[in-house]
Amino acid sequence: MTAQHTHSSLVRLHDKTFTLLYSRKDIAEQVQQLGKRIDQDYAGKDLLLLSVLKGGYIFTSDLSRTLDTPHTVEFIRASSYGSSMPSSGHVVMQDLPFTSLEGKHVLITEDIVDTGLTLSKIIESLQSLHPASIEVATLLIKPAMYMGDVQIKYVGFSIDPLFVVGYGLDYGELGRNLSDIYVVVSDEAEE
Ligand code: IMP
Ligand code: MG
Repeated sequence: MTAQHTHSSLVRLHDKTFTLLYSRKDIAEQVQQLGKRIDQDYAGKDLLLLSVLKGGYIFTSDLSRTLDTPHTVEFIRASSYGSSMPSSGHVVMQDLPFTSLEGKHVLITEDIVDTGLTLSKIIESLQSLHPASIEVATLLIKPAMYMGDVQIKYVGFSIDPLFVVGYGLDYGELGRNLSDIYVVVSDEAEE
């Protein structure tokens, strides 16, 4: 950290305290790198970024703007139902806005993959729409928690299985607007 960082490195949301994990600069560099790889891999292909709401909105927006490859963007909503902390295992998918994905190369853009239950559910739903390919780009993954069998091609950061917020990720719906990513430091009020 340098003196130029005027933002606080501690954030309080609801009953928890969070400390800086990745700065906006770290994130921007990672997103650029992912964008480069995606441009190389999808040159000449009909690319569709499929953003998973809510958490994926900022990552998708930044990633989309690094790409030279012409692409369309769609949004789906998937949420782990009934808990502010992941992962309840009940994934609620809100309607896919597509009738056909034929010929489309779908790149799912996720904020974070934890157990992978959300992702499995999304991929399962997409397969029936017969896209040309399905791959996943996630800014963050917790490898120790991941139970899925899909290989995730584009990963920004692999992290320990701790709760993080910022850059789209929330704790009880707060913290999504933080430009940096923070990790929980205090669990004192956990039930
Ligand atoms: P999964 O189904 O267990 O992979 O959980 C994925 C979803 O849980 C993500 O899309 C997030 O909405 C949420 N989630 C998982 N880990 C975190 C975290 O550390 N902070 C905030 N949300 C998280
Ligand atoms: Mg969430």
